[in-house]
Amino acid sequence: MEFMEVIRQRRSVRKYRPDPVPQAKIDHVLEAARLAPSWANSQCWIFIVVTDPKVKRRLAEAGNDWIEQAPTIIVACADPKKSGVKGDQQYYLLDIGIALEHLVLAAADEGLATCWVGWFDEHTARAALGVPDDIRVVALTPLGYAEEEPEARPRRSLGEIVRRDRWG
Ligand SMILES: Cc1cc2nc3c(=O)[nH]c(=O)nc-3n(C[C@H](O)[C@H](O)[C@H](O)COP(=O)(O)O)c2cc1C
Repeated sequence: MEFMEVIRQRRSVRKYRPDPVPQAKIDHVLEAARLAPSWANSQCWIFIVVTDPKVKRRLAEAGNDWIEQAPTIIVACADPKKSGVKGDQQYYLLDIGIALEHLVLAAADEGLATCWVGWFDEHTARAALGVPDDIRVVALTPLGYAEEEPEARPRRSLGEIVRRDRWG
């Protein structure tokens, strides 16, 4: 698909068919994440690919019941010690944001549905996955075939969000 078309047609999908995602497609979207840029090329990420129904259930208990229907859930974890800090800027959050968005867009290009999930109880997610205490569970996305076709959500216009040369 043409690049801007991938961006335009991606949606956050919250209803999934049970059909499994072929391993080659999972590998493909993980490869897109692997190639993402990161602070000092530190690549502080670990992606946990969850397909075990028992683990999916426990992960859903972290606050998003609906993610369990997806055949696969990709959980993006970060080791903050491997990334950078400048003042109060924690670069691992940016690193994960970029890498997971690479994955999400590659999924859209493959006809797969995703949804960024940033709100969940991290303690419950960590326990479900056996993630050590010094590793952050930053975000996750279901990965599968859409059971719904959500409308495009509105976006602010360029006129509202772009300034020239100065803030004011
Ligand atoms: C950082 C981030 C965190 C998000 N967290 C959640 C979440 O916890 N639960 C959820 O249902 N959607 C979540 N979303 C999805 C947004 O609600 C969605 O992207 C937004 O409404 C625009 O819709 P669209 O993705 O279909 O264009 C998140 C998106 C981002 C980028």
